[in-house]
Amino acid sequence: MNILMTASEALPFCKTGGLADVSYSLSKEFVKLNHNVSFVLPFYKGIEKKVHKKINHVSDLIVTMNWRKINASIYHVVYDKIDYFLIKNDYYFYRDNGLYGYYDDGERYAFFCLAIIELMKYLPIKFDVLHLNDWQVSMLSCLIKTKYGSDNYFNKIKCVLTIHNPLFKGYINRDSLFDLYNLPTNLYDEGKVRLDGQVSTLKAGIVYSDKITTVSPTHRNELLTIDGSKGLYYDLLLRKDDFIGIVNGVDEKEFNPRKDKNIYVMYNESNVNSLKSKNKVEFCKENGLNPKIPMFAIVSRLTSQKGLELIYGMAQEVINHNGTFAILGSGEYEAECFFNRFKALNPKNSYVYIGYNDLLAHKLYASCDFFIMPSAFEPCGIGQMIAHRYGALPIVRRTGGLVDTVTCLNNDNSNYLKADGIGFDDFSNIEANESINKAFNLYYSNDKYMNTLRKNAMKKDHRWKKSALMYLDLYNSINK
Ligand code: GLC
Repeated sequence: MNILMTASEALPFCKTGGLADVSYSLSKEFVKLNHNVSFVLPFYKGIEKKVHKKINHVSDLIVTMNWRKINASIYHVVYDKIDYFLIKNDYYFYRDNGLYGYYDDGERYAFFCLAIIELMKYLPIKFDVLHLNDWQVSMLSCLIKTKYGSDNYFNKIKCVLTIHNPLFKGYINRDSLFDLYNLPTNLYDEGKVRLDGQVSTLKAGIVYSDKITTVSPTHRNELLTIDGSKGLYYDLLLRKDDFIGIVNGVDEKEFNPRKDKNIYVMYNESNVNSLKSKNKVEFCKENGLNPKIPMFAIVSRLTSQKGLELIYGMAQEVINHNGTFAILGSGEYEAECFFNRFKALNPKNSYVYIGYNDLLAHKLYASCDFFIMPSAFEPCGIGQMIAHRYGALPIVRRTGGLVDTVTCLNNDNSNYLKADGIGFDDFSNIEANESINKAFNLYYSNDKYMNTLRKNAMKKDHRWKKSALMYLDLYNSINK
């Protein structure tokens, strides 16, 4: 199959969150299964350093954005047998303050979508599937079905939309539908792309794509409830039969304590109980911490989605029990201030790194005993799966993908032969703090439980193959 994947970010070129890992890993898995994958990305500032000489300028295409005629320079580079096409327009994408969050994001990604259409017309390869990810590119299915509906090639292509974060709707105003996309405003007036009195590009993707997926079966079911749908309930309900949840995997090569040169001591599932703790000892030595007490870690964007309100209390609870609390992340200003203050107040029991640092992330996964992830909502989540790979036990709120990927220990420990984490249900400080207590009990009680859970975690199957095969089945199920 010829698959065209598109997203606003992907490894190894640009990343702000899990979308970048997932869009890349899934593409890589399709390649392993003998499919051709092309991937279109914006050429952001900073990418030029990563691609060096391996990149080729392919062509310059003219994108018509209503009255504007804009140049899109197409660059091509092969990475892990994926054909990456990077769309360069410095006015839109060569910016200093990260990938998103600009006043004109709606216009920037409208340009990106229209450039992808031009690229598809230009390339000799005919794609069978166009796979869209999140609001930045979800308008493509609407463009293809409305504007290009009578074109022989576009008419046949299968459009699949994956929702990674339903919070971001891609709002633009009614006039922009015409001004940016040159689409008739009756699409808005008839309600096809209207949400909350604006145009939502995500909703357009839901209405016009052939199939819709999200990144875990539990999150799919949550999105089909009024409370859990983040405002998409009625639109998703109409597409219920074309909407499935496929859980993400994790890159087993990138996160592998058996071969990871970033960590202090490598280990596997047979020696995890003797060797993993050597990582904690080294990490604690480096940072003036006590290696004899349990260590809890967080590697996360610091946003309310990730359960910040609970994390504050859980961090304090760890200190109250004399454990170590370590956090690596960046995000909301208030949270960054909180943790800097927290470090100052608890110098011997905490480690705080505001920012992102890949090497440090690997060290934390290898060093910690428990990995905290009390998300308010979590379409899939990656941290908990990486934690498993490193024999760290996730402490999760049972929501979305956290339900599908973590087997939580019962209250009486009776399922310890299968369990690989600790969980709680309510988004409340009481339950969250209880889960920390439970972790301390587990750590200091019979070794049998803790040791078995660590091994279970390391043996857990989070490979991509099964999920990739499910996507391929889905592609094949679309009859054209
Ligand atoms: C988003 C979701 C996260 C998911 C990731 C990749 O970041 O919030 O739960 O793991 O996308 O699909």
